Amino acid sequence: MHCIAMMSLPDSPPAAPVTVPVPLGSRAYDIIIAPGLLRDAGRQLAPLASTGRVIILADRALQPTHLPPLRNSLAAAGLRVDTVLMNATEEHKNFISLQEILDQLLDLKADRKTLLLALGGGVVGDMAGFAASILLRGVPFVQVPTTLLAQVDSSVGGKTGLNTRQGKNLVGSFCQPRRVLIDPGTLATLPRRQVMAGYAEILKYALIDNRTFFEWLATGNGAAVLDLAPQALTHALATSCRSKAALVVADEHETGVRALLNLGHTFGHAIEAVAGYDNTVLHGEAVALGCLMAFDLSVRLGLCPPDDLRAVTTHQAQLGFATRLSALAPHKHWSPAALLAAMDHDKKTSAGRKMFVLARGIGQAFVARDVDDTPVLATLEALL
Ligand code: GLY
Repeated sequence: MHCIAMMSLPDSPPAAPVTVPVPLGSRAYDIIIAPGLLRDAGRQLAPLASTGRVIILADRALQPTHLPPLRNSLAAAGLRVDTVLMNATEEHKNFISLQEILDQLLDLKADRKTLLLALGGGVVGDMAGFAASILLRGVPFVQVPTTLLAQVDSSVGGKTGLNTRQGKNLVGSFCQPRRVLIDPGTLATLPRRQVMAGYAEILKYALIDNRTFFEWLATGNGAAVLDLAPQALTHALATSCRSKAALVVADEHETGVRALLNLGHTFGHAIEAVAGYDNTVLHGEAVALGCLMAFDLSVRLGLCPPDDLRAVTTHQAQLGFATRLSALAPHKHWSPAALLAAMDHDKKTSAGRKMFVLARGIGQAFVARDVDDTPVLATLEALL
């Protein structure tokens, strides 16, 4: 995922960190955001490693770039550091890799006070979190996300898990990290396509409940975020993490409002499933188009002003997102009926009712389970 060809991270001096609290009672933790934070991780994490023992589970691709500054910082803080590497692709997010990881952690004699660190994107974070939740019936873990998507979404909120042959993330646990360390500098090695995929989740927060944030993104700041301009990026990271934290605190186990985080995901997961999880469509790309589809459906149902759909479409088009399925993956055969059928297998579908997050306008999302297939098919056809 990251470009590792002799690139090194920018040697930016640590900036004043932004702290986003996640006040979950006995499971409360902070998200810390600061350029250069990787080099300050030891000072940040030493108080959490009660026996001074840390094991990093890292994306193998980060070995030359992000791992050394993290290891050095932890060692400089007097911590004993071991590393377990994994191939961080969706195909490796499975029970076989989990078994290998657990074996290595046990061989390293991890104990219940060993602090497990996840260094990488969503695959590493989800696997490390799941391993931490079952190893010795639970060890503390910290997320150090290095992709934009993981920084604004998967590292926050405690969803962990892996894929099975039946689908993605069907096995897992809720297990909150003890801290999330976000160093925007780690994105310097991330391909722009992956940055855009992460941006889809940033846009999602604006569309859910923050019209002011949307207007900020749509007036040039979204482009600055994609260019990794430090101030804009830090503001977008902090705003996104605050949004996510608020929904997680209100509904940690997704029995209510947390489901709003699935805006764009019923369509998005169907797009990914029909694409065959072959990496032609990234999760964030599917979510971006899925958000447009959710707004199109909301307009079709007479819920949302057409101007709001136009504003979201224009913003995405200006940033270079595909606004139709045929542009997203031109060589795929997209059938509305197949996409609709894929939604029946979505884990959000319950008692045969598909779940959609719809909108009464930008920043006014809500959950609906009473949508007929006919307007959904019309949306799929319109955005083919
Ligand atoms: N990524 C959606 C959630 O954490 O609930």
